[in-house]
Amino acid sequence: MSSGNTTGTDQGVVGRFDAHLAPSVERPGDPESVIDAIFDPARRGELYPLYHELRAIAPVHRTEHRNMRGVWFLTRFADVLEVYRNPRAVSDPKTAEHFNHGGQGGPFYRMLKEMMLFLESEQHAHVRRIAVKAFTPRAIAAVRPITQHYADEILDTLAPAGEMDLVAEFAYRLPFRVIAHVLGVPESDFPLIERHAYDFARGSELAVEANARSRRADDAALAFADYFGDLVERRRADPGDDVISALIAAHDDGQALDRTQLVATTVLLMQAGHETTTDSIGNAVLALLRDPAQLDLLRRRPELTKGAVEELLRFDSTNQVNNRLLLDDTTVGGITIPAGDQVALVIGAANRDPAQFTDPDRVDLERQIALHLAFAFGAYYCIGNALARTELAVALRTLVDRFPRLAPAGETFTWRSTYRNRGLAELRVRW
Ligand code: HEM
Repeated sequence: MSSGNTTGTDQGVVGRFDAHLAPSVERPGDPESVIDAIFDPARRGELYPLYHELRAIAPVHRTEHRNMRGVWFLTRFADVLEVYRNPRAVSDPKTAEHFNHGGQGGPFYRMLKEMMLFLESEQHAHVRRIAVKAFTPRAIAAVRPITQHYADEILDTLAPAGEMDLVAEFAYRLPFRVIAHVLGVPESDFPLIERHAYDFARGSELAVEANARSRRADDAALAFADYFGDLVERRRADPGDDVISALIAAHDDGQALDRTQLVATTVLLMQAGHETTTDSIGNAVLALLRDPAQLDLLRRRPELTKGAVEELLRFDSTNQVNNRLLLDDTTVGGITIPAGDQVALVIGAANRDPAQFTDPDRVDLERQIALHLAFAFGAYYCIGNALARTELAVALRTLVDRFPRLAPAGETFTWRSTYRNRGLAELRVRW
């Protein structure tokens, strides 16, 4: 069902800068009808009004929707935070089964299963402690100058054109180069790795059957295993000042990661560190272009940049939802959810909860934010948050400083049709 404000296509969903959307669902007051609209790719532009509707009528709701049958949707900030804080609410290793395309147990699925996010909680905590150690203060401190370098380099090339697709030409390229550099991939290998990274990322878009996309993801997993396996061995013999070398050296409880774990962790960092940041830059710039007064404020007051990053992450988070498995009966918002059930922590809805944020649908770069949930919270809190925050700050600052007349280059832009990872397929801007 489409409201007429957006148009679905295979390439994405067209949104308009001037659209003011109110939710209209098939059966008003029925949570399932709202959830159906939330999952509908044609309605990406209406997501936040739909969340408000769901939060108002059923803030703790067990859905029968085919995409998440039996999962409890939580849309209030306080409830979502409470579950994040609960050590008996864990990431379910079975989630990896969603990516076992065609049930063949292919290379993509096998690599995913080794990633910390999909491990049983104790094993997860062990690998996580090692990965956290690899993000040394030195590695993080080096991120700002290298991010600035890449941002300048990309914009130098683009500046004379006076116009670009912000997503493909800037927001996609910048985080890729930064994370590849931080990991220790030589620049001459960037084009090769970028192709695999793209194909690998498409593998996490759900498909019941094996298809051309999932087969390319399998090929990318094999290529990554070869490439990073080899890089790991080279760094083991000759350590550098990079995250892979630090991962090799790090121990937890006297144990280091073996080669398979090292490769899986490197690929996780590569993938988790790339398109999430692309999406966040795109969503942030879109929000600013839709509110020229706030864009102007950022341009005039560089000291607001740090807070602006937090506000823009809150306003339109790329990770819309995290799933958790409840190991015990758990009461949330007065409703007892039985042990063994899954909850969907709807980050996007929590970050727009009026009980937590005054006037939540307004971008306010001067807002004082104590906490938002764009990076999750608790045991799985985003390891790359400091890196991502730096990249967003540099990206936004460099764009507004270099292009003081930054504006939309048309009346429309395009959302990707994906729901869990919300982001743009295209955003044309001029200066
Ligand atoms: C703005 C960009 C980013 C956003 C919005 C984001 C968001 C998130 C969220 C919501 C989670 C929790 C996932 C879950 O519990 O299911 C997460 C986990 C993670 N993120 Fe990020 N992330 C971003 C950038 C990065 C970067 C740059 C890196 C790496 C350099 C990274 C590495 C990770 C890793 C490794 C995990 C798994 C942590 C664990 O399992 O304990 N992320 N991220």
